[in-house]
Amino acid sequence: MHCIRKVTDDLWWVGANDRRTPLFENVHPIPRGVSYNSYLLLDEKTVLFDCVDWSAAPRLVENVEHLLNGRELDYIVLHHLEPDHGAGLWAVLQRWPGATLISSLAAQRFMDQFGFAPIQAQRITAKEGERFSFGRHAVTFYAAPMVHWPDVMVSFEETDGVLFSADAFGVFGALNGKLFQDELDFPHDWLGEARRYYANIVGKYGPQVQALLAKLTALEGRLKLLCPLHGPVWRSDLDWFIEKYDRWSKYQPEDHGVLLVYGSMYGGTEAAAEALATALTERGVETSMYDVSTTHVSQLIAESFRCSHIVLASVTYNMDFYPPMRDFLEDMRALGLKGRTFAVMENGTWNPAAGKLIEAFVTGQLEDCALLESRVTMKSTLKGEQAGELEALAEAIAHSVKREA
Ligand code: FEO
Repeated sequence: MHCIRKVTDDLWWVGANDRRTPLFENVHPIPRGVSYNSYLLLDEKTVLFDCVDWSAAPRLVENVEHLLNGRELDYIVLHHLEPDHGAGLWAVLQRWPGATLISSLAAQRFMDQFGFAPIQAQRITAKEGERFSFGRHAVTFYAAPMVHWPDVMVSFEETDGVLFSADAFGVFGALNGKLFQDELDFPHDWLGEARRYYANIVGKYGPQVQALLAKLTALEGRLKLLCPLHGPVWRSDLDWFIEKYDRWSKYQPEDHGVLLVYGSMYGGTEAAAEALATALTERGVETSMYDVSTTHVSQLIAESFRCSHIVLASVTYNMDFYPPMRDFLEDMRALGLKGRTFAVMENGTWNPAAGKLIEAFVTGQLEDCALLESRVTMKSTLKGEQAGELEALAEAIAHSVKREA
């Protein structure tokens, strides 16, 4: 059975939802699934904008076949060739071998590397600013390299003001029949997954996202719909979501508050972290607390993009800091997180060393990050007589949060 949604008079969503794949890119958990969005334009020419993952290709073909109703597929536009979109191309070309592919040159190279299209498939290379007309509708292509692969282009359809934005503005989560963001409580139910998608998939490439946003600014109010490759289509409040992207890509925090992440083997560090969270809450500081051992690092990274302050509480382990805490810090470095203020708590039963090493990582490996010098050290557990140290740390953090707000 086909499953489609009308986007505009001539444009249809023909993609698919995936609720079976446990890990996106085999790394990031997607318990709510993910959508692979494809769009079909029925004009004087018929145009498929992007494909889907291999696992969803039969549904894409069925949807397109239903809407074409016997017409041929003339063009396939490929904004991005990562296999969650490119792998389904093979099935589409099996069904409509005469379709002409329009993509960047890098995308053509990738489709050959992956083997997604036969060498004899007809291809057109799209370049920056190039316009293609399909009848009543025309699209202009804009390069968006490294948002988040080098092949990426977006295209703007001028009649209805549709931006086909590739992975930009993507979100984790299957759509469950609700294609448009105004059919969802997006700020409440989806923003967290949008942030987790952005921070982990695109987060490293803030300057490249800024370059793309500058091109969107030039569209001067003509932009009416955002059609990304994952997640809902935006037909209202576009500026709200674009502002999120602007903030994230500048590495500016959304909230002036504390992300408190602890790594605890036997509960001593956890108890100290909880005491700090309590002291911060009593001072009116919004604080979110996570166990580094049981929270996926993609969630911690998303929270790092949200919060202005990060407190790391870690045991000493093999004279280093806790391995999952190292994973978290390495991910922060890899994704280019910058401009945060850190504070540290450390634990060690005979030789606490984690704090100094974490502080060296923050100052040496992360860009433009500040360190509060009120480190709390505990041996196995935080003792009652150290209450003053804990209060001093909470006070320093609260003062810093309020100063930056
Ligand atoms: Fe959704 Fe970069 O692929």
